[in-house]
Amino acid sequence: MPNEKLLIVDDEKNMRTVLRRALSAEGYEVFEAATGKEALDVLTDVMPDLIVMDQKMPEMDGLTALKKVKRLLPSLPVVILTAHGNVQSAVEAVRAGATEYLTKPFDLDELKLVVSKALGVRDLFREVDTLRAELKREYDLATIVGQSDQMRDIYDVVKKVATTNATVMVYGESGTGKELVARAVHEYSRRSKKPFIQVSCAALPETLLESELFGYEKGAFTGANTAKKGRFELADGGTLFLDEIGDISPAIQVKLLRVLQEKTFEHLGGTKTIKVDVRIVGATNRDLQEAIADGTFREDLYYRLNVVPITVPPLRDRKEDIPLLVAHFLEKLGSKRKMSKEAMARLVAYGWPGNIRELENTIERAVILGSGDVILPEHLPAELRAEPVPGGPPVPIELPSEGIVLENLEKDLLEQALRRAGSNQTKAAKLLGISRHELLYRMEKFGLHGPAKRS
Ligand SMILES: Nc1ncnc2c1ncn2[C@@H]1O[C@H](COP(=O)(O)OP(=O)(O)OP(=O)(O)O)[C@@H](O)[C@H]1O
Ligand SMILES: [Mg+2]
Repeated sequence: MPNEKLLIVDDEKNMRTVLRRALSAEGYEVFEAATGKEALDVLTDVMPDLIVMDQKMPEMDGLTALKKVKRLLPSLPVVILTAHGNVQSAVEAVRAGATEYLTKPFDLDELKLVVSKALGVRDLFREVDTLRAELKREYDLATIVGQSDQMRDIYDVVKKVATTNATVMVYGESGTGKELVARAVHEYSRRSKKPFIQVSCAALPETLLESELFGYEKGAFTGANTAKKGRFELADGGTLFLDEIGDISPAIQVKLLRVLQEKTFEHLGGTKTIKVDVRIVGATNRDLQEAIADGTFREDLYYRLNVVPITVPPLRDRKEDIPLLVAHFLEKLGSKRKMSKEAMARLVAYGWPGNIRELENTIERAVILGSGDVILPEHLPAELRAEPVPGGPPVPIELPSEGIVLENLEKDLLEQALRRAGSNQTKAAKLLGISRHELLYRMEKFGLHGPAKRS
């Protein structure tokens, strides 16, 4: 309460003095104005938290001044002092935006109460505003962090594809941020005001997934006591995110294929054909090429889905993003702590099999465990501190006395790896201990293209 500023507007000097004394005694900082015009003049300099204003003043009456104040500062609380028995003017004052009115004569305790109540209401509004701002911040922070080339490529694709209705498939290891990318596709699109509906395909048993996706009629199966809309309908006009789509059963694959081809479907137990306008974004951490090869994923469905593929690289392939992500997560946690150089070096050296999710958990844990201003290596999990020197066993090749051309050896090994992996780039990269990204770079360098298979 101290230091809150009140502006008293009254043409009677005695009245102003009485009010000022009473309110100063409560710890408010009190300013005075003798007319409505004067009040308006000082308003933006003083920036009061509340105005107490007499209604009946010469020149500009209180109501007129009130309206002008409200136009300038709509949320500023104003208490109006009205003449005894003039209900009509009290009503007018409230209509014009007065927070409260007091009829003269009033006792000073009553005034103090009204003032503190009006300030309380304002505090409540402020609180709502802060909460809203915080929510928005929460949302802003949910954006994708990363300035590596690989991530920039992804932003480009996301922005381009967002303007279309094309089906998008997001690939990547667990915890790489596939869901964030899927949401970004929605947020950047014309559909952003419409729903983003998510289905975790692996989490639901087949029959449940089917009824979740397509909805059902009353009596379609035991327990279907009422009809229910499916996620496809809920997403109408928006985006349907089919997470872990690589895990859906053959029966659902057939149904999904039909929806993708015809954009129509029926409820379970229903005959009415339902048409929807939905953009599909799928995500999987499975190798769909492999799944097609072993017969668990339909090739025709794959081509329907894989219109615009986006592969989110594992964190170990974009280590330059680690410091940015660390700062992002510290901020998200509201921590003022800094990462020490040594700890950061550990974070960068680590391989992050759980990708960004693992990094986020690690930072959270370090913030909880640590004390003081900096996070030290000892606040990190043991596996990070015991990180072995990168690389596998030494290669059993002895350098001939006449020497070699290193690039030829590199090319040869690259070809061997691709052959052995049946041109599966992910597998070939694994055999060479490099990322798929690095593999592609080297293939480009040596002009090796072959039957390119994405994975
Ligand atoms: N680039 C990024 N910037 C900031 N946060 C990220 C980024 N990528 C991922 N995250 C965060 O990491 C966590 C995991 O991301 P997300 O759920 O999108 O991964 P996923 O690929 O869908 O994982 P899974 O395959 O396990 O479902 C989330 O908390 C997400 O907010
Ligand atoms: Mg996910």
